[in-house]
Amino acid sequence: MSLDLPELLLLGPGPSPTSPAVRSAQALPLVGHLDPTMLELLDRVQERLRPLFGVDHRLTLPLAGTGSAGMEAMVSNLIEAGDRVVVGVHGVFGQRFAESARRAGADVATVEAEFGTPLDPDAMARTIAAGPTRTVVVVHAETSTGVLTDLAPIAAAARAAGAMFVVDCVTSLGGLELDLQTLGVDAAFSGTQKCLSCPPGLAPVTFSEAAIERAAARRQPAPFYFDLGLLTGYFGSERAYHYTAPVSMIYALAAALEEVHAEGLAARAERHRDVAAALRAGLGPLGLEPLVPVEHATPMLTAIRYPDGVDDRAFRSHLRMVHGIEVGGGLGPLAGRVFRVGLMGHGARRENVLTALAAFGDALQTAGMRPDIGGALAAARQEFT
Ligand SMILES: Cc1ncc(COP(=O)(O)O)c(C=O)c1O
Repeated sequence: MSLDLPELLLLGPGPSPTSPAVRSAQALPLVGHLDPTMLELLDRVQERLRPLFGVDHRLTLPLAGTGSAGMEAMVSNLIEAGDRVVVGVHGVFGQRFAESARRAGADVATVEAEFGTPLDPDAMARTIAAGPTRTVVVVHAETSTGVLTDLAPIAAAARAAGAMFVVDCVTSLGGLELDLQTLGVDAAFSGTQKCLSCPPGLAPVTFSEAAIERAAARRQPAPFYFDLGLLTGYFGSERAYHYTAPVSMIYALAAALEEVHAEGLAARAERHRDVAAALRAGLGPLGLEPLVPVEHATPMLTAIRYPDGVDDRAFRSHLRMVHGIEVGGGLGPLAGRVFRVGLMGHGARRENVLTALAAFGDALQTAGMRPDIGGALAAARQEFT
């Protein structure tokens, strides 16, 4: 049976496009999750993930489940009822972490910033110091707004308070250089469908020895599926069954990580910055404006304000139906006010910037605007020279 699915250019907040090598790997015949070839592949995947996080933590692994499973693994293992947890909230994903910690019974203190603006590191430091803080959490690349968090001052404040520092790297992993161990980040989680350009379904996570010790000392054991001790049984040297690992997804991730390794993380990060700069350069002539100033912006996701008179649904539907391009809508208070463009992983290509700008121009013209499409393409091309 043919599924007859459209071939779309995925330029939204994820999933990002996958390469032919990743798609072929996913279609390979299955082996058992405890087969020696699978275990070797797992070793390789773990080895390839560590430098992307910038850690040498032994407990660095692709957890089954999407990025949110990675978040739950953090909460389940590192947060207990009554813990004071400080969460930076300047977008939807900070909100979600705060809610997950609340559901675990934590005493959550949020430090809020308007969607589209960065967290104030002084406000974070003050709130961290204001109580016996056990855990500090921030989102590195806020996909709902495109704001990049400066981790260093928050890491320093967490360290000064003796608190554990947990970072959501769902959108940043594989798209920019991370140096989490040097910064003193104790645990982090990600997803496969953003800058790794793999289908959604795995959550790369990493835990320091201090984090492993905290999990082992819990008053109540973690939920069975996310229990670090049991995960170590499978992903560590023992190789005991914990769950039936999603074999095909691990093939796909292994292939994606080989591509990242072959390119080199520094070159890959540069490619993301290069296309983001070109996209930004092209917006002005179209009459568009990025939500976040460049100094606080993520390279892999750009939220773009709609000019007055352009309807979100009609604009995005035009892109999807006429141009076969997927972009994201705004979330939370930004719904209807911005659209979100992801240039992530395999999708972070110069030709995609030009294709996207031309399509945005066409959609704007359809909405009655007068974009300078030629000017936008020329401005973007200028960035490539
Ligand atoms: C920053 C961030 N955190 C967490 C998540 C949740 O990941 P998932 O949707 O894969 O469960 C996302 C998904 O877009 C994200 O962008």
